[in-house]
Amino acid sequence: MRLLILNIGTIVGIDTLHRTRISGLEMDSMERIDNAWLTAEDGVITAFGSMDSCPSSEGFEILDAAGGMLFPSYCDSHTHIVYAGSREQEFVDKIHGLTYEQIAQRGGGILNSADRLHNTSEDELYNQAMERINEVIAMGTGAIEIKSGYGLTTEDELKMLRVIGRIAKSAPIAVKATFLGAHAVPRDYKGRQSEYVELICDTMLPTVAEQGIAEFVDVFCDRGFFTTEQTEQIVTKAAEFGLKAKIHANELDYSGGVQLGVKLGAVSVDHLESSGEDEIEALKGSATMPTLLPGAAFFLGMSYPPARKMIEAGLAVALASDYNPGSSPSGNMRFVTSLASIRMRMTPTEALWAATLNGAAAMGISDRYGSITVGKVANFFITKPISSFEYFTYAYNTPLISRIVLGGKIV
Ligand code: NIG
Ligand code: FE
Repeated sequence: MRLLILNIGTIVGIDTLHRTRISGLEMDSMERIDNAWLTAEDGVITAFGSMDSCPSSEGFEILDAAGGMLFPSYCDSHTHIVYAGSREQEFVDKIHGLTYEQIAQRGGGILNSADRLHNTSEDELYNQAMERINEVIAMGTGAIEIKSGYGLTTEDELKMLRVIGRIAKSAPIAVKATFLGAHAVPRDYKGRQSEYVELICDTMLPTVAEQGIAEFVDVFCDRGFFTTEQTEQIVTKAAEFGLKAKIHANELDYSGGVQLGVKLGAVSVDHLESSGEDEIEALKGSATMPTLLPGAAFFLGMSYPPARKMIEAGLAVALASDYNPGSSPSGNMRFVTSLASIRMRMTPTEALWAATLNGAAAMGISDRYGSITVGKVANFFITKPISSFEYFTYAYNTPLISRIVLGGKIV
């Protein structure tokens, strides 16, 4: 199938340099073409240019952008969207003064979701997750990472990973699966945390690897969850099976998870609300992507990670939604970019790169996703005509997406 898009007000998010990540001050510059066209064939972007050099439309399906802007689809590199039901009762508990950690300590939080997941069939879990997938597609997401971690038994973790596999087969977006058995210590192992870590290393990881149903391993390395020693044990074992690491680090405290992630060559370290000079220093010169989740800081009323300091230190930064029932019940990546601008002083340009190309890098797919580049997968959306690129981040609640193209097909 050949698609020609005409009358694009501006194409943004162009990268003709084929970069696999964008770092530091470079994050604030972006190539654009005004009054443009773009072609896609067999699912990939084949060419683009300005309307005065528009190719003949013969043999193309035509899409008239009517002056709207064309954005690369968001690449959301950190989500937990396979979950059963919801946790609005805990939302109310938080309004009444309980903290996320207090809710977890009394057996709610992740363990609450694990109970619900256990009692939900695989088909029902898939159906609920697909509703969320369709919701985020409509909001501009074109690639997503999904974690397990609400199973916490071998059987239920595998059930989650199978559901993620089914989503990967049926959804029109790229899907990456992460095994997060070390999300919380299940009730049966209370007081025997090291035995649960052994179960992960000796049974869960070998089974996950044998079935080939996850590409990454993750650990919630933070106060009250898993220690840096346990994280190292799990990540090292996972590496024997070829699973790369993405680590939940420094959400609740200065956990040492960032330094450990860098040392172990993690693809990303995520959250980072508690980060200072040492964390930034550790990240310098490493390939580990700091991934910030301002939706979680917003929802839990936490302080935001020091994005400006990271960018000014020359780091690349990624943004992701953390879509999950406890700390971020939203997968709206556009809102994430607006929060990044409003609360972390990232410019709309920096925020867009962080939510596209750098998010793709945090999933190891930035050679094929995350920018408007010839040869990359044709994943993008078109807006209604807007007054400027910045307007899209500024008018954060106005519905502005009018058309979505995934894999070169209009959806
Ligand atoms: O990224 N921090 C750990 N995990 C999730 C929350 C999961 C939950 O509360 O269900 C997060 O915030
Ligand atoms: Fe998370």
